Amino acid sequence: MDIRAALKEGMAQLRAAQIPSHTLAAELLLMHALGRDRAWIYSHPEEFVDPAPAEKFLALVARRAAGEPVQYLTGKQEFWGLEFEVTPAVLIPRPETEHVMEVALARLGERGIKIHMDTGAPREKLHVADVGTGSGCLAVALAWELPHAEVFATDISAASLEVARRNATRHGVAERIHFLQRDLLTGIENTDPSREGARHAMPALADGAALFDLIVSNPPYLARSEAAHLQREVRDHEPHAALFGGPTGIEMYQRLIDQARDLLRDRGILVLELGHDSAEHVRGIFDAQAEWTKVAITMDLAGIPRVLAAECVR
Ligand SMILES: C[S@@+](CC[C@H](N)C(=O)[O-])C[C@H]1O[C@@H](n2cnc3c(N)ncnc32)[C@H](O)[C@@H]1O
Repeated sequence: MDIRAALKEGMAQLRAAQIPSHTLAAELLLMHALGRDRAWIYSHPEEFVDPAPAEKFLALVARRAAGEPVQYLTGKQEFWGLEFEVTPAVLIPRPETEHVMEVALARLGERGIKIHMDTGAPREKLHVADVGTGSGCLAVALAWELPHAEVFATDISAASLEVARRNATRHGVAERIHFLQRDLLTGIENTDPSREGARHAMPALADGAALFDLIVSNPPYLARSEAAHLQREVRDHEPHAALFGGPTGIEMYQRLIDQARDLLRDRGILVLELGHDSAEHVRGIFDAQAEWTKVAITMDLAGIPRVLAAECVR
């Protein structure tokens, strides 16, 4: 079997299984099985595919046809221009989560906090938290964008923290990210660096002064009742702890916003990804607490309210 025939066979099987974007999926799986890029594949259509990679490719096609997401089969997904390892222990980073990055960096920019060390004078260290870090995509991308930031990334799942740690190492920012197994930010001020793998002590909670300049989170926000309506790729393969926020899907927001209010410095920034119908409810939580100002919601490319940002005043 040559490259052209392999690709044709993969596409045909995926089309027959009604897999969306079956052409792209077949290309990505063939690239993965051969360890080659797209340009090579299309410039060598008559190259013979050895039996071992051919078998590997067809096995991957069969798994994709049965519903496994391409990213779990190839083990990677791009986010913010960086390649992240993904395993079934972590949510596959979504393009809409890049809006969290955009909003967070824009808010820091408005405040005159330089986002690149080489574009301005070094400033004092920035303390950032990423709650529910999953693959570590937000924590790693923020550490990469903000060379003067020290990031505290939490997750309830020990398995996802392992993946996130590897992603931080891959992108050279592991020294500035502390990965902590936590329920949201519970007890983060009492982090014991020697026991939890944090490399430095947490910034001190002096006189009740708060800790963070920026907290970001893409919390689990689907309602349990939505499970039946999810694509099988999501429902049957992505970790349920990453998807479901509780019976109504909005339970996590209230706890997270309460914790953030106690842990942000004066004028500290909170940036949250929103579920497709949670904007009104989440906005209501901010409106009910006097400490929040500059509450604003940003739409995603589909016109869905996707990111809420606010500043905490003390
Ligand atoms: C929607 S995923 C987001 C992952 C990643 N930040 C991203 O944007 O791709 C939510 C993450 O929150 C974690 N999580 C769920 N409940 C949590 C809790 N109570 N405390 C901390 N993390 C939690 C899940 O394990 C999952 O990794």
